[in-house]
Amino acid sequence: MNATGLKEICQRAMDIGMGIDLTDCPYGETTGPCSFVKRPTKYYFFLAGFVRLQRLTHVLEIGTNCGGSIMSIYNGLCEDDITVSRLATVDIIRKNDEGFKKYPFIKRIQGDSLDGGVIEKAVNFFDKDIDLLYIDSLHEYGHTKKNIDIYSGKLKPRYVVLDDIRQCDDMKRLWSELEKQFGDNAFDASDVSIRKGAGFGVLRWG
Ligand SMILES: C[S@@+](CC[C@H](N)C(=O)[O-])C[C@H]1O[C@@H](n2cnc3c(N)ncnc32)[C@H](O)[C@@H]1O
Repeated sequence: MNATGLKEICQRAMDIGMGIDLTDCPYGETTGPCSFVKRPTKYYFFLAGFVRLQRLTHVLEIGTNCGGSIMSIYNGLCEDDITVSRLATVDIIRKNDEGFKKYPFIKRIQGDSLDGGVIEKAVNFFDKDIDLLYIDSLHEYGHTKKNIDIYSGKLKPRYVVLDDIRQCDDMKRLWSELEKQFGDNAFDASDVSIRKGAGFGVLRWG
């Protein structure tokens, strides 16, 4: 796989994602200027399309918030894959119980993703190596790197996706190191996923 290959996959994923209905996956509460976003954000379509295109079935998300991203990932599953799929999401806080009622299939784990008990629960939930590790929690260098190291070491994902790679100096530094390490298997998908400001990075891990 070369850089063009990963870029093409990401472009195609966004095209496919834009055709997936995510109307019941609003972002919800934010810490930004708008305190509640009633619609899905653009990168949700990317995530859903990526899952559909690559037929991903085993996904771990770090950073649930209201669940919009993991619900979008669920909506990206191919129909035939739903029963064999495993989706889990971790957050220190628990929000949107009402919205999650429609998604009983998604495993929610409450706690700090770096806590030993939480790591054990998340890892034991999966019956095999995972397809996607999606990290969108505290956007600090050490925190994000530890999450990558721990979960990729234990669950050997095919892909790692990082949100907010342009958001702050810490995330820019981490992404630049990963680009050097992964070369053609790292793609800055910020433009493709219409996340130019905050940034969105895709790594082909496995
Ligand atoms: C940006 S939000 C996630 C947004 C969500 N992925 C989406 O796209 O809809 C970040 C979340 O990370 C959670 N978080 C922060 N530190 C965490 C930690 N140590 N372990 C687990 N979750 C954490 C926060 O509680 C917050 O809900």
